[in-house]
Amino acid sequence: MNLKTCFNYLPSIALVLAMGCSQQPDGAATDKPTDTQQLVSTSVATPADNANNAMDVYKSPSCGCCVDWIDHAEQRGFSFTTHHPVDFGQFKADKGIAPRYQSCHTAVSAEGYLFEGHVPARYVKQFLAAPPADALGLAVPAMPVGTPGMEMGDRFSPYAVLLLKVDGSAELFAQVDSPAQQYQ
Ligand code: CU
Ligand code: CU
Repeated sequence: MNLKTCFNYLPSIALVLAMGCSQQPDGAATDKPTDTQQLVSTSVATPADNANNAMDVYKSPSCGCCVDWIDHAEQRGFSFTTHHPVDFGQFKADKGIAPRYQSCHTAVSAEGYLFEGHVPARYVKQFLAAPPADALGLAVPAMPVGTPGMEMGDRFSPYAVLLLKVDGSAELFAQVDSPAQQYQ
């Protein structure tokens, strides 16, 4: 039931992703620690990180991987007010996030920029430091295995962080080819 709630807008990938999303926030602790996870747990925010750090995040109440992504970003200086929209599909449509770019949660910066899905915090910071013209925000569509909040042991699938434009188009913002690259 929880999984269905979390993935009812991502039916084609629900099966692959169910394992990750059903993880409770403390579920990852049962996995063997990896170098990557140690990096996550030892990273601390620096004063310089705290400029534009307060965001709203919109998620399903039952989504565990969303909470894990929030933890990832909070450990890197962001803070969140969490919301649970009644109609998530409508929320994303209202924000202008086309279905092909959608993921489980949407973070919204104080300036109104969108960060859809499991975007590594380093790229959120890079974006906010110099937002490109006509940008809506960043997205990691669907939920690639091994992204921050979607850690599953050593499993990792290379993926793209997309720059969403206000005209509905998207372009490559960053290609992520290794787990370590996410936490630099
Ligand atoms: Cu997720
Ligand atoms: Cu999420």
